[in-house]
Formats: sequence, structure tokens, C-alpha cells
Amino acid sequence: MYAHRPTHVEIDLTALKHNYQLLCQRLPAACSVLAVVKADAYGHGALPVAKVLQQEGADLLGVAIAEEGLELRQGSIDIPILMMGGSFPGQEEIVVSNDLQVVVFDVEQLIHLEAAAAKLNKLCRCHLKVDTGMGRLGVLPVDLDDVLVTLRNCPHLCMEGVMSHFAVADLPNHPYTLCQLELFLECVERVRGAGFNPKYIHSANSAASFDVKLNQGECGCNLVRSGIALYGGQPFSDAEEGLSLPLQPVMSLRTVIAQLKQFPAGSSISYGRRFVTSRPSLIATIPVGYADGYNRQLSNVGQAVVRGQRVTVAGAVCMDWTLLDVTDVAGVSCGDEVTLLGCADGECILAEQWAQQVGTISYEVFCQISKRVPRHYLGASQYD
Ligand SMILES: Cc1ncc(COP(=O)(O)O)c(C=O)c1O
Repeated sequence: MYAHRPTHVEIDLTALKHNYQLLCQRLPAACSVLAVVKADAYGHGALPVAKVLQQEGADLLGVAIAEEGLELRQGSIDIPILMMGGSFPGQEEIVVSNDLQVVVFDVEQLIHLEAAAAKLNKLCRCHLKVDTGMGRLGVLPVDLDDVLVTLRNCPHLCMEGVMSHFAVADLPNHPYTLCQLELFLECVERVRGAGFNPKYIHSANSAASFDVKLNQGECGCNLVRSGIALYGGQPFSDAEEGLSLPLQPVMSLRTVIAQLKQFPAGSSISYGRRFVTSRPSLIATIPVGYADGYNRQLSNVGQAVVRGQRVTVAGAVCMDWTLLDVTDVAGVSCGDEVTLLGCADGECILAEQWAQQVGTISYEVFCQISKRVPRHYLGASQYD
């Protein structure tokens, strides 16, 4: 009997540390690292992950929203934290009083932040984001001068960084990325020409951090913002073309077999009768479903590892249950461990494989593992 439902996520903090160190080895010595821990560290658990990265020497942490920054501050994380999604009206005092650094991109936002910082008599450290071709957050180069004029009149705002974001860094050697970089460096020169001296110049995500043309000193940047690579996700889209990096998966999703049943040929399995046994089949019922983040598009195609062997999902993934065809697994028994993501006995189900099967990216696979699945941390004792 299990005290708890056995479906759980394992987070290997030693693998996280390995990935962080690999990143650091590939960067020029003078380059700093902002470790991206937004979205609950891509589903890995923001606080335990942040503790490891803080201890390993990350220079900053990156969150998307104020609540994520506060969670880290309340958890005794005291290294700089950048709110990469900027601040929304009404949040400024919380941001400033908790020493959260903030991405800025327009005049209105600067005025609100300056007012809050002045009221609290504190300095607010900002990273000015320039939109060089992502078409998302950031000031367009054509509007940069207005923002710089406003910033000059904000004595409580300190320009800690200038940043941009690449749209296709996952495709190595893409000319669009080089154009973005060129435009970004021109903007940095304009910022300097206006009398600012930002500490950090940054544009690289994980992929660009591992791209020597984009991460070396001559690209003019001195900070990278890395997320997916820390979690063991391959940052380049075409990892098969020799671009696969020796990163270790951090997250595993495991459960056990709850029931085993023998069916004759011609039996239909699960909702919609989308799987019909073609031979006498042994079908395992496992307590994981789309409510846990096991995507319904894995119906009939998802794979798992049982007793070191790969097996395939039989029929539709349900909300709380999934069926596996384990006919070929010798000695399979109720209570056997099932690995749906991660490695077991030398077989690995990688997030990239899962992502490809459901038409998404590894980022979404990690983020979709739902909150109801408890996270178990391996190697955590070193970081308490
Ligand atoms: C602004 C910004 N910088 C850096 C990152 C990290 O990207 P990656 O996970 O590809 O390293 C993200 C992630 O979405 C981001 O939005």
C-alpha cells in the first residue's frame, strides 16, 4: 500500500549543478550569468532551484512577474533578481521595497517607478530593454531617445543593464540574429553616448550562450540569460545535427503500475476505443493523466520505460489514468516503476522526444507538469 499517490516528479539538483557548470565553462571568464527561474523554474520548483544556483555563484536570477520575485525573496534568496516581464502599474512599491531589478521599456513605466523609488527613498535598478527584432517587449530603437531623456530625469532609477532578446537564436548562424546583435550594439552605443554606463549588456538566451559567435567578448555583451539549458533541455532546435550538448536532464516523471490485466486480441482500450489489441495483450494501468500534465496528444504514441524496456501508450490518455501495452516486458508486475520522462536503467525519454510527439517544445513539456504532482528533490541536503 502507498501512503501517497505514487506519481511524482524527481528533480535532480546534481544534474542542475552539472548543467550550470557546463554553461560557465563555455563562457568567457568575464561573462556573468543570469539564471532564468521564471514559471517556477520551468516547472522544476523556483526556490530549491534558486538555492542551488545562488550557491553555485549565479550573478542574477530572472523571473517573469513580481510574485515570482517575492517568493524568492521570502525564501531568503538575496542575490539580484531581475523581473524580466517589467512591472505593472500598482506594483512599483513592492518591486522597489524588495530590491527587485526590473526591465523597463517605456516612459510611463519609468515615471511610475521613479515615483515609487522616490517615495521609499530607494534606488531602483533597471535594465532597459530594446526590441531589436523580437517584436515583443522592449523599446523600439526609434523611440530610444525619449526613454533616455526620461531616464536622465529619474534620479532614483539606476540603469543597471541594457538588453535585447533574440527571436531565432535556436537556429545557429542565422543572419537574423546577427542583424539583431548589430542593431542592439548600435543602441548600446547610443545609451553610452547619452551618458549612461550600464554594468550589464545582455541579449543571449541558452542557445546564444552556447554559440561562440554570440557569447565571446567581441560580441560586446557581458551577461547571458540562461534557462532551458540549466534544466537539461537542448537549446538548439536541430540537436541531431551535431549540436547536441552534454547536458543532463533534471526532471523525471515517474509513477508505478496500479493494475495489470490480460486482454484477448480484439479488445478495445480506453475512451473512444482508439486502441484495439491486435494480439493477446498485457495492459498496465498507471495513475497519471492529462490533469498531471501528461498530454492527451500522447494517446497511442507516448512512451515509457518499464523494467529497462520502452513501452507505448495504449489508447487515449485520460484525466487521471493512462494505459500502457507491457505485453513484451518479461516479469512485469503491479507496483513496478514507470518512467514517463527522464532516464531509467539506461533508457531515456527526453523532453524533446515528448515535445515532438505533441507538436510543442521541451519548455512547454516541463511547464505543463501540473502542481498536483509532488516534486521530490535529489541532492537537496547540500543546499539547505
Ligand atoms: C527575456 C528572456 N531571456 C532569457 C530567456 C531564457 O531562454 P532559454 O530558456 O531559451 O535559455 C527567456 C525565456 O523565455 C526570456 O524570455
